[in-house]
Amino acid sequence: MATAVVPGICHAVALMWLLLVLFCWAPGLTSAADTAAYIVHMDKSAMPRAFASQASWYESTLAAAAPGADMFYVYDNAMHGFAARVTADELEKLRGSRGFVSCYPDDARAVRRDTTHTPEFLGVSASSGGLWEASEYGEDVIVGVVDTGVWPESASFRDDGLPPVPARWKGYCESGTAFDAGKVCNRKLVGARKFNKGLVAATNLTIAVNSPRDTDGHGTHTSSTAAGSPVAGASFFGYAPGTARGMAPRARVAMYKALWDEGTYPSDILAAIDQAIADGVDVLSLSLGLNDVPFYRDPIAIGAFAAMQRGVFVSTSAGNDGPDPGFLHNGTPWTLTVASGTGDREFAGIVRLGDGTTVIGQSMYPGSPSTIASSGFVFLGACDNDTALARNRDKVVLCDATDSLSAAIFAVQVAKARAGLFLSNDSFRELSEHFTFPGVILSPQDAPALLQYIKRSRAPRASIKFGVTILGTKPAPVVATYSSRGPSASCPTVLKPDVLAPGSLILASWPENISVSTVGSQQLYSRFNVISGTSMSCPHASGVAALIKAVHPEWSPAAVRSAMMTTASAVDNTNAPIKDMGRANRGATPLAMGSGHIDPNRAVDPGLVYDAGADDYVKLMCAMNYTAAQIKTVAQSPSSAVDCAGATLDLNYPSFIAFFDPGATVPAARTFTRAVTNVGDAPASYSAKVKGLGGLTVSVSPERLVFGRKHETQKYTVVIRGQMKNKTDEVLHGSLTWVDDAGKYTVRSPIVATTASSAPL
Ligand SMILES: *[C@@H]1O[C@H](CO)[C@@H](O)[C@H](O)[C@H]1NC(C)=O
Ligand SMILES: *[C@@H]1O[C@H](CO)[C@@H](O)[C@H](O)[C@H]1NC(C)=O
Ligand SMILES: *[C@@H]1O[C@H](CO)[C@@H](O)[C@H](O)[C@H]1NC(C)=O
Ligand SMILES: *[C@@H]1O[C@H](CO)[C@@H](O)[C@H](O)[C@H]1NC(C)=O
Ligand SMILES: *[C@@H]1O[C@H](CO)[C@@H](O)[C@H](O)[C@H]1NC(C)=O
Ligand SMILES: *[C@@H]1O[C@H](CO)[C@@H](O)[C@H](O)[C@H]1NC(C)=O
Repeated sequence: MATAVVPGICHAVALMWLLLVLFCWAPGLTSAADTAAYIVHMDKSAMPRAFASQASWYESTLAAAAPGADMFYVYDNAMHGFAARVTADELEKLRGSRGFVSCYPDDARAVRRDTTHTPEFLGVSASSGGLWEASEYGEDVIVGVVDTGVWPESASFRDDGLPPVPARWKGYCESGTAFDAGKVCNRKLVGARKFNKGLVAATNLTIAVNSPRDTDGHGTHTSSTAAGSPVAGASFFGYAPGTARGMAPRARVAMYKALWDEGTYPSDILAAIDQAIADGVDVLSLSLGLNDVPFYRDPIAIGAFAAMQRGVFVSTSAGNDGPDPGFLHNGTPWTLTVASGTGDREFAGIVRLGDGTTVIGQSMYPGSPSTIASSGFVFLGACDNDTALARNRDKVVLCDATDSLSAAIFAVQVAKARAGLFLSNDSFRELSEHFTFPGVILSPQDAPALLQYIKRSRAPRASIKFGVTILGTKPAPVVATYSSRGPSASCPTVLKPDVLAPGSLILASWPENISVSTVGSQQLYSRFNVISGTSMSCPHASGVAALIKAVHPEWSPAAVRSAMMTTASAVDNTNAPIKDMGRANRGATPLAMGSGHIDPNRAVDPGLVYDAGADDYVKLMCAMNYTAAQIKTVAQSPSSAVDCAGATLDLNYPSFIAFFDPGATVPAARTFTRAVTNVGDAPASYSAKVKGLGGLTVSVSPERLVFGRKHETQKYTVVIRGQMKNKTDEVLHGSLTWVDDAGKYTVRSPIVATTASSAPL
């Protein structure tokens, strides 16, 4: 990671970084080689009265078990407990202490940032009225972002025309003063703080990183996507869509820098969430996750539970480990889990042949000049013959890259050909569009025209124009290959992901000092960058949540999520079912896109909502056979408060996943109970419509729901009966939609029936 930081930073600082990194990664150099950092959960209700504060109780508990040990965080909001470095023996003693609940290592290797290397499309725009107007652009909602820091000078954080920071904000803010080391900001950037005590080995070397400044670009990008102010004339080199702005352009951003180049420590993430809750954020945007951990060892699930209990909406990324099923992280029932899809914008390279034929491909080549003048044009098969490439160095070379796009790109780059055109429909190809030499990716469908021209012409020629943005491309969205697929490893019985949002090739602010690309040996810089990942789809959803919270401040996090899910669209902009690049563009299943693509204008007025709260999630964990200590670790409840009466895996969730045994010889039935609350017009009546799931029978009872007044709740049950072929990992899907008689609302829930395993981690 150190190399990613060096450009543009003076040598002394770079050297510090290097020292810091060496220091951290060489345990032999630390005096504390036999200690390890742990996050320790305590039962606050067990605190003896003699202690004035929980911090002093924790200090005394730690001192008794581990004299002289370094306690580097005390947590009071995201969880109750502390983080400390102790030896194995000391840890054993700590386990026997009064009030000890659980502990786990503060392991940076476990955490992943969800980067792989827009508003008009979502129908939210000034001209369409709708949600932006209804929510006053998210005004006064505070979106907390836990990430790599922020670039405060970015025009995306300009506070022009914003009223004073809301009085309920409890974090740092002295309006008008300059942004400085974890202190102050403007009315847009209400707060910024740093958390890096996880780097215990390096505590004496933190001078170089002693500010919340973004050293990576990720945090500036995610926070401006969620809530950046409009920036006129935003462009990424030659590619100019016009203005750039976040989803909730008048919402505030509070940045918590918890991700450092030295490592992304769970203790830092928890400290950031702890502070965000205390500061008073309304929405938390977390574009990171931990794979393969149960809730009680997942700092994001733990911090999000506490946030949810205080009404904070938590949006998380599904991860970038697609397209195989089951690798999704943040499959947590009290957060929103966001998958990633394409938008309707293409960064194009336009190829013009000698006979005037024009072919449009994809490229984000940022070099200048942005055109390749008419040059010789040759087809070199797979471009795997270095001799042939060397002989045609002065030409535009066409490669059949359908077998291996990366090998062809590498060969043309090494050969230093004038330009490369790559025929490929590789599902990961968007990752290759960041060309560092003049290159364009073309569809194999264009091959016959190109090859025929070369064959017919005595002296084939081609010219290329880069830097062209094309809007309104179809079909869109398409689920991105990299987006992680459900079922959730931590809780398979709740269908995840929840929704799909734009996450591919997202244009957003970027620190000016951090290189966005390299062309030849030259580093290129820009105020904007274009990046992909569920880390980009998550802040889109966070921004939408901010808009909904601005209109409905009284809604619970589960109600806001329900509104986003039941109004999401399962069709693309050609009105066909949304496709999945990871399944060769066949239809996407809810395990890839959840309920579908978020539709902010509809989400603000969903008709019915499926609500749930802390008690429901505790009953779910009970049914998952969690121990009392495991439940207390997540839910912070004192021992007496863990009530497992009524334990059930059947959470009141706006989607359904039914598991069938692939070896079963007789049909089985899976029953779900749901309660919906009327938040729309009253009186109202709805009828159930079921689609899909061929081979199984789905019955809904009652089939009609009648509401006499607003906020009334009605229950229904769904029974899915049948037998699935005895093949594992089979997936059938369909939906249940409640349609209101007045024709105003459709409240849709996806249904999955699968032979995958339902065993949680
Ligand atoms: C980064 O850019 C800012 C201007 O936005 C400048 O003030 C600062 O000195 C630069 N920092 C480095 C390390 O180049
Ligand atoms: C950090 O500095 C303190 C004194 O300022 C010293 O006691 C301690 O040993 C140092 N820690 C490391 C890891 O160098
Ligand atoms: C590679 O290209 C050269 C020059 O066009 C040609 O002579 C040679 O036969 C090619 N090699 C292979 C393995 O096709
Ligand atoms: C990719 O292109 C090949 C032709 O080169 C075609 O056979 C295949 O079906 C295409 N795949 C997709 C997903 O479009
Ligand atoms: C919990 O334990 C019970 C009893 O052993 C078992 O029947 C059930 O399947 C378990 N639930 C889960 C989710 O593993
Ligand atoms: C399918 O199930 C039948 C009996 O239920 C069994 O005989 C057969 O081996 C199973 N096939 C597979 C592929 O599991």
